Amino acid sequence: MIGLFDSGHGGLTILDALHRRLPRQGFIYLGDHANAPYGQRSFDEIYELTQQGVAALFGLGCTLVILACNTAAAVALRRLQQEWLPHHFPHHRCLGVLVPMIEEIAHNPWHASADASDWARAPETLGVFATRATVASGAYVHEVAKRAPRVRIFQQACPDLAGMIEAGADATLIRPMVARYTGELLARLEGATLDSVVLGCTHYPLVEHLFRAALPENVRLLSQPQRTAEALTAYLFRHPEMKRFGPLPGEIRAYTTGDPDLAGQLASRFFPRHLAFQPLPNQLHRIRTHA
Ligand code: DGL
Repeated sequence: MIGLFDSGHGGLTILDALHRRLPRQGFIYLGDHANAPYGQRSFDEIYELTQQGVAALFGLGCTLVILACNTAAAVALRRLQQEWLPHHFPHHRCLGVLVPMIEEIAHNPWHASADASDWARAPETLGVFATRATVASGAYVHEVAKRAPRVRIFQQACPDLAGMIEAGADATLIRPMVARYTGELLARLEGATLDSVVLGCTHYPLVEHLFRAALPENVRLLSQPQRTAEALTAYLFRHPEMKRFGPLPGEIRAYTTGDPDLAGQLASRFFPRHLAFQPLPNQLHRIRTHA
């Protein structure tokens, strides 16, 4: 089965898209609810927690894990791939949710470097709404500069937003928050017109309608769950050895480091089917709970 990891519920927006696109594929979801949200944590904590989460999913039998969390992917993925996997799990793979978005922005596959075709396109202004850690990592800015230099990027950190969504806060509380973050980004455009926007946190698709309402009408919202599902389908086509069908086709197992009942209750807003969350088996429960 393919593993998905997020700090909490946000990765379920990715799981939903993956399950629709690959209905026979089995998935194991792990939410580190005990430590969510990640966005305000230090890079070291995010790296450590992500590594432990991925190790737990490997321990559950996954050989491919998707970091369904921009914060974990932006801060930890490269280091996991370069320093940790080759030494500890050389036959396992870990992918993230940023690469599919960058490919979409650049209109190019990841391994094709930016070339004249990028400059031949019209210049574009892109907004990225994300957690504080994702913004501070500079991952979107760096990769877009490398692969789509014609795209001018404006980032907006949205501290507290993922935490509010995670806690199931009402739209009446979240709407003004989204309006404020959107207003802050629009005010910094220095006269440019915003063409498209990435909701660069997997919690945000859940309040996409609020972003839609707060943004100018003609701004294009790039869908991270859908794009990730397309990218994973293409990856599995190229790497059929990574396809893992469990005994029940389309089975989804969900684990949490937090309270399984609470996680199950809140998950119904992110995923259309009831998910019965289980605690991680004791021998895998090495994720340290950070205060
Ligand atoms: N959903 C995650 C992301 O995509 C993390 C949000 C958080 O835990 O702060 O960034």
